[in-house]
Amino acid sequence: MPDIVTLTMNPALDITTSTNRVVPTDKVRCGAPRRDPGGGGLNVARVLHVLGTPATAVFPSGGHTGRALEDLVATEGVPIRSLTIRGSTRESLTINENETGLQYRFVLPGPTVTTREQRACLDLLIEVASGADYVVVSGSLPPDVPADFYQHVAGAVGDLGARVIVDTSGPALRQLRGRVFLVKPSIRELRDWTGRELSAIDDQVAATREVIDRGVCDVVVLSLGAEGALLVTQDRDEYFPSVEVPVVSGVGAGDSMVAGVVSGLARGRSLSDSVRYGIAAGAAMLQTPGTALCRRTDVERFYTLLTEGSAADTTVG
Ligand SMILES: Nc1ncnc2c1ncn2[C@@H]1O[C@H](COP(=O)(O)OP(=O)(O)OP(=O)(O)O)[C@@H](O)[C@H]1O
Ligand SMILES: [Mg+2]
Repeated sequence: MPDIVTLTMNPALDITTSTNRVVPTDKVRCGAPRRDPGGGGLNVARVLHVLGTPATAVFPSGGHTGRALEDLVATEGVPIRSLTIRGSTRESLTINENETGLQYRFVLPGPTVTTREQRACLDLLIEVASGADYVVVSGSLPPDVPADFYQHVAGAVGDLGARVIVDTSGPALRQLRGRVFLVKPSIRELRDWTGRELSAIDDQVAATREVIDRGVCDVVVLSLGAEGALLVTQDRDEYFPSVEVPVVSGVGAGDSMVAGVVSGLARGRSLSDSVRYGIAAGAAMLQTPGTALCRRTDVERFYTLLTEGSAADTTVG
């Protein structure tokens, strides 16, 4: 099985709790908290583990929150290589409001990661990823890390011969220049990246092709939420419908999709089938409540549905 490594520069200890009603000023008494690992690359590694495609998670970790996070990930059986930093790993707080079913998500910015620590993270990644086939770089950057950090990662990892897969947003996405194999923006992120509305599918194909023509990456998997996904390369584009599923919880579909795509590629599936597997994994993530990961049985069931339906012509252009 090919070697997979994920990088999470801004991991989080996710705390989820519930209360009857969120109100200002008064103390809001909450139920027992649940703690889960959080952050793009960590979630990708955890889902890859569920899918039976092992991956090593590399991330900076600091303070007692960092230690708690490391314990949680290791308990799930995911191999980790963390770099100890001076700052404390951030926490994120999700509050489910019982009376309304609404969910409030408070996301903190993350600790300072000094220039020296950034360099050490990159060195650790290079050590762990030597001989790796895929390196998944996913999630936001902590506040002091320059927006072109992922581009440095792509260059360094590309030199090792691994294929780089990036899922990020905002300036970190805009700063990508090359050496990346695959980028997985959501339609929201692609709109932000290009500054265009992109309502028609032809516009979406044109915008992703521009990214490829600029030499940023070889492949774009544009995720369209409930609408499915578009796969675009230099010479082809293909639309993939999603699986119609009732949504139990909408969190984590993107990370799960990335894990599915990488898992497919690592098993030697075609790009198209890997995207189908990603769509199946994204949909499966919506079947489990709260922060729970997807079930492999759901992923395989949805993948079978999607491959059986793939005889239809889905080419856009
Ligand atoms: N409501 C849904 N029904 C079925 N599948 C879905 C649904 N929402 C998401 N998915 C699947 O998960 C994939 C990823 O979802 P989405 O496009 O929302 O990306 P995301 O990374 O979670 O978005 P963002 O980063 O902008 O929050 C979709 O391409 C689709 O295959
Ligand atoms: Mg996303």
